[in-house]
Amino acid sequence: MRALLPEPADLVDLVETYASGIPGGGDRPFVRVNMISSLDGAIAVAGRSAGLGGGGDRLLFHVLRSLCDVVLVGAGTARVERYRQVHVPPEVQEVRRSRGQAPVPPVAVVTQSCNLDWSSELFRGPGPRTIVLAPGNTPADALQQARVVADVMTVGAGAVDLTAAVASLHDMGLAHVLCEGGPTLNTSLAAANLVDELCLTLSPQLAGCVGGVLLGGWLGSTGVWMARTEADGTRNFRSQPLAQLVPLRLVSLLEDESYLFLRLAAARPPQG
Ligand SMILES: NC(=O)c1ccc[n+]([C@@H]2O[C@H](COP(=O)([O-])OP(=O)(O)OC[C@H]3O[C@@H](n4cnc5c(N)ncnc54)[C@H](OP(=O)(O)O)[C@@H]3O)[C@@H](O)[C@H]2O)c1
Repeated sequence: MRALLPEPADLVDLVETYASGIPGGGDRPFVRVNMISSLDGAIAVAGRSAGLGGGGDRLLFHVLRSLCDVVLVGAGTARVERYRQVHVPPEVQEVRRSRGQAPVPPVAVVTQSCNLDWSSELFRGPGPRTIVLAPGNTPADALQQARVVADVMTVGAGAVDLTAAVASLHDMGLAHVLCEGGPTLNTSLAAANLVDELCLTLSPQLAGCVGGVLLGGWLGSTGVWMARTEADGTRNFRSQPLAQLVPLRLVSLLEDESYLFLRLAAARPPQG
């Protein structure tokens, strides 16, 4: 992988590159969103993101996980991508311990329905218990079922109050949040002004995404990760546009086998 910006370099230390600029000490929540998109805006092929990825993208995926305190994911993605607990190699666990982090970051799933597979590895694996973030008005029996295998936090009513959820994670010592999508959750985070950073991999492919550059026009600065193509290709839609565009500033640009890796920071004053 080579760097194109801010300074050209033939070899890049991914850990160093992506650890730089993260607020130290965990004194406030830091939310980083990691997504991959085709050049025309598709975030899934045949319903899953794997078809877009490459070696460099998979490497970056694991590096970002190795740096975070918690992996945040929407229930839709957890279901479709069959989410598991995070795997961290022993040597990386040691590095994390030396930084004062837990050896393995837990996964936190945002859900309204609580319709999750409680028998899956995500909830039954040997790693840290998965956190379930659900609205306070979730039926008691659903919460009870979840509590058997997960740490449950109820925040908000009707939908999860993401500002309160991120603050609660921070209170638990989980200050560095890595959100791995999907677009519904991303859009809600952006609407709540919670996105500090977007790591966007541009896959050198065209997937024919309605709303993308080929079919229907570009969606604006946040459209790349709001557009999606459904599994069967028959239903294409995008989330509600944000009330306000979220401006982003390019921090770095890397390249590997024609994949482009953009690291973009929210161009707004840091949260207090
Ligand atoms: N290209 C990429 O990098 C990438 C990354 C991730 C996902 N994807 C793709 O994205 C697609 C899934 O998209 P999606 O929009 O359905 O994913 P999503 O955002 O992961 O899931 C949406 C679901 O998350 C829950 N949710 C989100 N925000 C909530 C809130 N504020 N309060 C309560 N619940 C909330 C709800 O769960 P309930 O339904 O349980 O109520 C909602 O239906 C898949 O095709 C996946 O492959 C691509």
